[in-house]
Amino acid sequence: MSTILEVKHLTKKFDDNEVLKDVSFELKKGETLAVIGSSGSGKSTLLRCLNHLSPPDSGQILLEGVNINTPEIDINSIRADMGFVFQDFNLFTHLNILENVMFGPLRVRGLSKKQARQIAAAEIKRVGMIDKIDSYPAQLSGGQQQRISIARALALKPKLILFDEPTSALDPELTGEVLSVMTALANEGMTAIVVTHEMGFARSVADKVIFIDQGLIVEQGEPKIMFATPRHERTRLFLSNFVRLE
Ligand SMILES: Nc1ncnc2c1ncn2[C@@H]1O[C@H](COP(=O)(O)OP(=O)(O)OP(=O)(O)O)[C@@H](O)[C@H]1O
Ligand SMILES: [Mg+2]
Repeated sequence: MSTILEVKHLTKKFDDNEVLKDVSFELKKGETLAVIGSSGSGKSTLLRCLNHLSPPDSGQILLEGVNINTPEIDINSIRADMGFVFQDFNLFTHLNILENVMFGPLRVRGLSKKQARQIAAAEIKRVGMIDKIDSYPAQLSGGQQQRISIARALALKPKLILFDEPTSALDPELTGEVLSVMTALANEGMTAIVVTHEMGFARSVADKVIFIDQGLIVEQGEPKIMFATPRHERTRLFLSNFVRLE
């Protein structure tokens, strides 16, 4: 499989706080990468640096071989190529579901209304929400809103999707429906980076996992191996919290 994303020596500071320290990793087309780590370790900052919601200080981000961490990049096209699914959904409250999902194809990709509607309807169907196409976000459960937010990212036909703790704002019974949509996408070959505390999902769906601590990648590898035999004490300590909870 070909490499879709290569991150080399990425750094990010907020004032004196070094939040990402020399972060390097790569992702192949079709892979799901899980990013795990404690609160404040830099996971969201990493995702936000990748699509320039928060510009990195230094390092390279090669998307299909092209460095996108340069001043000349077209930020809108990068954001369309890397869909972002936020913890708190971020849907437009004044637009209905169809309009929310049509927005990207229409406004960002510049498609016609007819094409945008077709794509949006197909993606809404893909996440199992076609019966809610005329509803407004406030009329949906959190799990349903998150599925629409995934459809919205998919409608941009991204090269990969970045998920930042997509289920952590949801009640446990709504988490499953979102994880099953994400699992189906992974099985269909979508490339994704998922920041998550759902260790079951990371273990069974991810191809690779990165453990980040204080802005450093402490360990990366195959989830089944890392979870069974972490090589570093810090990884062992972090994972032991979940073993007790599960
Ligand atoms: N916009 C910002 N301005 C200043 N500091 C920030 C900003 N965003 C994040 N930070 C700091 O960067 C560090 C990493 O934050 P980040 O949100 O990336 O952590 P995280 O791993 O996603 O945590 P959580 O699991 O709680 O979401 C923290 O110390 C945080 O306070
Ligand atoms: Mg975060």
